[in-house]
Amino acid sequence: MNTPQHEIGVGLISVGWMGQLHSRAYSSLSVVYPELGIRPRLVIAADTNRDRADYAVDVLGYESATTDYHEVLEHPDVDVVSVCAPNFLHEEIGTAVARAGKSLWIEKPVGRSAEETETVAQAADDAGIVTAVGFNYRNAPAIEYARRIIAEGQLGRIINVRGAFFADYSSEPNGALSWRFVRRLAGSGVLGDLLGHLTDLAHYVVGPIDRVTGVSNTAYAERPKLEMGSGTHFSVVEGGEMAPVENEDYAGLLVQFGPDAQGAGAVGTLEASRVSVGPRAEYSFEVYGTEGSLRWNFERMNELELALGYRGPHVGFTRIMAGPEFGDFSKFQPGAGTSMGYDDLKVIEAKKFLLAHIGADSAHADVHDALAANRVVYAAEQAIADENWQSVEQVEGTSAAVKQGWAASETAVTHD
Ligand SMILES: NC(=O)c1ccc[n+]([C@@H]2O[C@H](COP(=O)([O-])OP(=O)(O)OC[C@H]3O[C@@H](n4cnc5c(N)ncnc54)[C@H](O)[C@@H]3O)[C@@H](O)[C@H]2O)c1
Repeated sequence: MNTPQHEIGVGLISVGWMGQLHSRAYSSLSVVYPELGIRPRLVIAADTNRDRADYAVDVLGYESATTDYHEVLEHPDVDVVSVCAPNFLHEEIGTAVARAGKSLWIEKPVGRSAEETETVAQAADDAGIVTAVGFNYRNAPAIEYARRIIAEGQLGRIINVRGAFFADYSSEPNGALSWRFVRRLAGSGVLGDLLGHLTDLAHYVVGPIDRVTGVSNTAYAERPKLEMGSGTHFSVVEGGEMAPVENEDYAGLLVQFGPDAQGAGAVGTLEASRVSVGPRAEYSFEVYGTEGSLRWNFERMNELELALGYRGPHVGFTRIMAGPEFGDFSKFQPGAGTSMGYDDLKVIEAKKFLLAHIGADSAHADVHDALAANRVVYAAEQAIADENWQSVEQVEGTSAAVKQGWAASETAVTHD
C-alpha cells in the first residue's frame, strides 16, 4: 500500500475502563482503517494505581508507564493524549495537555461544572490544539443514519423528542460507592454522566436545547465505599464501610429546543437513571416529526425503527438493520445482521480524532460540544434546585451545529 504513513505517539492518562478502551481503539485503528495510513504508537501510560500502570505495559502494549501523569505530558514522543481520569481531574489535566501543545481526547463530562468545561475549552482554543470528547453514541451507524434522514427533512417538522438512558449499574443497594457518587470527585450524578451523553445526542441529531426544567431522585442515601483504582462502578461490595451518596441516581428533564424554520422548535423529555431494575443499558432515543418518527435503543444498537407517512399497509414502525450504507458500518462488518459492538464506536471516535490531529477534515465531538451539553445539564441542576425553568446559554462552533455536508457520493436514502 502506497498510503503515506503517519506515526502518532500516544500518551494515556488513567488505565481504568475508558483508558483500556481508548488503548484498544488506537490498537485497532490501523487494521480497521488501513487506507488512512495512521499508525498510533502507544508510548506511555499513567495511573496512580501501580498495577494498572503495569497492565498498560504488560497487556496493552505501551512502551513505558508511570504513576505521575506529568511524565506523559513531558514525553517528547507523545503527540496526542487520552484523558480517561475521573472527572475531578479533567480540568487540571485537560488544561495541562493544552499548555503542553498536544492534541487532547478527553472523556465526558469534560468538567464537573460548565465553568470547568469552559476553562478546558478556552485553554484548548488559546493553544490551538485539536480536541475530541467521548460522546461515543454519536458514532453508532444507526444514529448517523437517523441524523441524516432528519436533516433531509424526511420526518417533516420535529415535534417532540423522548430520550431515556436507563442503566442498572448501581441498582443493588450494596452497589459500590465509586468516585461517581462523590460530588467532589464526579460533580453531579446521572446528570453529568448519562444525561450528558443523551443531551449530546439530542444536540447532534435534532438541534440545540434552549430551556430546561426537571426533577431528580436518589434511591439510597449510603453505599459501601470502593477504593479509587479498584473494581468498576458495576462492583458490588458485601459488608464494606458505608459512606453517603452525594448526587442524584435519577433525573428527568423537560426541554425546549431552539426555534426551527417554522417558528417554535421541538420539545421533549430526557431522562437518565443508574438504578433501573430491568433495563441493563437501555439507552433509548426517539424523535417524532409531522411526517415520520424514528427510535433507537443502545441495547439493540444495530437497529433503527422508522415510520414514514400516514397511510398504506406498512404504516407504523418498521425495523431496519444497520448495514454497509450506514455510517462506518462497512469498516467493521460486510453485511447487515452481523452486529457491531460498543468498542467499535470508540474505534470510530479514535479515527475521527486522529484524522483531525493530522489536519484532515473530521466532523467529531469536541470540547465545544461538551460545553454545550454541560450547559444544559448544569442549567437543569439549577432548575431542579430552584424548581423553575432555566435558559441555556448557547455555544458557538459546535460540531453538532453542522448539519449540511452529506457527501454527494453517499448512497441516496429513499423510502418508497
Ligand atoms: N464515553 C463513555 O461511554 C464513558 C463510559 C465510562 C466512563 N466514561 C468517563 O471516563 C472517565 C473515566 O471513567 P472510568 O469508568 O474509566 O473510571 P475508572 O474508575 O474505571 O478508572 C479511573 C482510573 O483513574 C485512575 N486515577 C485516579 N487518579 C489518577 C491520577 N491522579 N492520575 C492518573 N490516574 C488516576 C484510577 O486509578 C483508575 O484506574 C470518566 O470521566 C467517565 O465519566 C465515559
